[in-house]
Amino acid sequence: MVDQLEKIKGELEQANILTGEELEEFRIRYLSKKQGRITELLKLIPTIEPADRKAFGQQVNVLKTIAEGMVGEARTRLESTQRSSDVPSDLTLPGSAFDTGTLHVITETRNEIVNIFERYGFTVADGPELEDDWHNFTALNFPPEHPARDMQDTVFIEPPGDQHDGILMRTHTSPVQVRVLKEQKPPVRVIVPGRVYRNESISYKSYCLFHQVEGLYLDEGVSMADLKHLLHMFSRTIFGDDVVMRFRPSFFPFTEPSAEVDIWWKDDSHPEGGRWLEILGSGMVDPNVLDALDIDSEKYTGYAFGMGIERIAMLKHGIPDIRLLYENDLRFLSQF
Ligand code: PHE
Repeated sequence: MVDQLEKIKGELEQANILTGEELEEFRIRYLSKKQGRITELLKLIPTIEPADRKAFGQQVNVLKTIAEGMVGEARTRLESTQRSSDVPSDLTLPGSAFDTGTLHVITETRNEIVNIFERYGFTVADGPELEDDWHNFTALNFPPEHPARDMQDTVFIEPPGDQHDGILMRTHTSPVQVRVLKEQKPPVRVIVPGRVYRNESISYKSYCLFHQVEGLYLDEGVSMADLKHLLHMFSRTIFGDDVVMRFRPSFFPFTEPSAEVDIWWKDDSHPEGGRWLEILGSGMVDPNVLDALDIDSEKYTGYAFGMGIERIAMLKHGIPDIRLLYENDLRFLSQF
């Protein structure tokens, strides 16, 4: 009996199961209920002398555990090689697609606006978002106590003090007009896309930060008719030929005369079938602004405008609420 145990133990140590068939043979030879060799030994336990029975039983059970372990290990090993050989070997099959990112709809709209004005001969200029009071207000002809300073609902970083008259987040892109005119003599034809900040109450059409594209054209003989023509062309290009727009008189300290442009936002659920949405402010550069920068306001005239990128994106895509543009919800963003 002990011989049998040793013999089987030796065989198990030698065994090397490589295929499914070998695995089945191994299982039958040692573990099958009917004639498995280890099963046979188990059946013999009751016939062993009581004194040796326990030791014998333990040894047989050790063999059984080893053999069962080998079957389990071989089965897992063979199954996993089987699975990896299931992978299709046709390397010409199309791969699975990855989701790619897209530009944010604000960036896309900005690019579109910039492209249109580049075609009209404008170049792109840039300026800081952290601005001083002088560039944001004073140089643009806002008198010190002018209510327009409040009107802008400014985000001040440092209030006016002894050292300077205030550091703020720019409330519009117009201070870049001043920065450009300090560097460049007319003729000047620039646009300035950028971010602006306002400490104002948030609603479906206003947010505490948004984007503008400023425009400035200064040369001899530039007129209000040129401005009107440019803005008509722009609106038709960006919204389509059937756009309905109006030019509405307005006021800005740095332009005279001034006008705003509204676009008709068709909406059948609205009692009047839609509503006007203001997209830009504009006007003829006020001579006071030019004089303060030592530019001859008798010789040069110019127009300026500042448009809201978000408002234009809302009109183009029928986005009912500006806040959607700032929530980073992929279900919204991936529609563009
Ligand atoms: N800066 C003005 C605003 O933010 C817009 C504007 C720009 C008006 C240029 C006239 C000329 O509302």
